[in-house]
Amino acid sequence: MEKRRIITTEIIPEEDKIEKGLRPSSLKEYIGQEKVKQNLKIFIEAAKRRKENLDHVLLYGPPGLGKTTLANIIAEEMGVNIKITSGPAIEKPGEIAAILNNLSENDVLFIDEIHRLNRQVEEVLYPAMEDFAIDIVIGKGQGARSIRLDLPKFTLIGATTRAGMLSAPLRDRFGVVSRLEFYNVTELMQIIIRSAKVLGIDIDEEGALELAKRSRGTPRIANRLLRRVRDFAEVERKDKIDYNMAKVALDKLDVDSAGLDDIDRNIIFTIIKKFGGGPVGLDTLAAAIGEDSGTIEEVYEPYLIKNGFINRTARGRVVTDLCYQHFRLQGPAVADK
Ligand SMILES: Nc1ncnc2c1ncn2[C@@H]1O[C@H](COP(=O)(O)OP(=O)(O)OP(=O)(O)O)[C@@H](O)[C@H]1O
Ligand SMILES: [Mg+2]
Repeated sequence: MEKRRIITTEIIPEEDKIEKGLRPSSLKEYIGQEKVKQNLKIFIEAAKRRKENLDHVLLYGPPGLGKTTLANIIAEEMGVNIKITSGPAIEKPGEIAAILNNLSENDVLFIDEIHRLNRQVEEVLYPAMEDFAIDIVIGKGQGARSIRLDLPKFTLIGATTRAGMLSAPLRDRFGVVSRLEFYNVTELMQIIIRSAKVLGIDIDEEGALELAKRSRGTPRIANRLLRRVRDFAEVERKDKIDYNMAKVALDKLDVDSAGLDDIDRNIIFTIIKKFGGGPVGLDTLAAAIGEDSGTIEEVYEPYLIKNGFINRTARGRVVTDLCYQHFRLQGPAVADK
């Protein structure tokens, strides 16, 4: 069985309830993602003024950055209901037709993992998104005919970690396409301090900073680390999380000063030891560490690339000088000299 990472970006089942409690419920409370927020604010304001539905919105980016949170906030800010479903949950065209037909005027339909909708279901969405109508076929064979059913004007919000897997006709039907970015340390600190307040945890700025630095740009991880560090503090009978408490606990959790853990180290050391620091092709690397290449590409690698630990080149993945420095190793370039 796959070892569960403390810094996994995926949601852990028992976390579901806690996450809901930590979710900000207005744009004002939603920290960071300034560009996305600014745009949405304008579109929401305009739609409300016209008393119309908001344009369809596609949110994409790595897991745990706040897509689901933002979808809920959009509905809240619009003052409309949100109906939540997901790509894999809708199997038949009839199911999506029923969902659409049950919406009220201006409602939000949130489809998580929208890249996993099957083809026939997707085809129902095209006229629904464009003309607010669905075509239903009645009868069979020669006598079959299609009738058009009008739908209430609604807003589709799609979320995906894999925008590249969306079909072009579906992607083109979203008026607003927003990419969520990794958060910087200051933003993560604010998120941690806010969450600590909600959970009744005492943490000072240095403690929050240390947690923020190791949260790999991801609020979900920041919130998780906060709770794990609190556990350590409780056992040690400390009532406040300060720099030392945070550092000791995070070191014990094997999350290093840059937020890297066992799996990251495994990827990096495999490239160094087995492939001389790279370049190595994604599939070869995946085989060497026994992971699926899609998972490496969309889950593990983005943070390593974003922070300059590995580079993606035409010939494959390469470990950077910064990475050698981080681990206090001699890089091949240095060794050759
Ligand atoms: N901008 C933010 N400000 C404060 N907290 C945030 C923010 N974004 C996310 N969070 C916190 O992080 C948690 C995870 O966010 P969310 O579930 O929205 O991520 P997601 O992008 O939908 O992830 P996935 O791709 O796995 O569905 C939320 O419960 C919330 O507490
Ligand atoms: Mg989500």
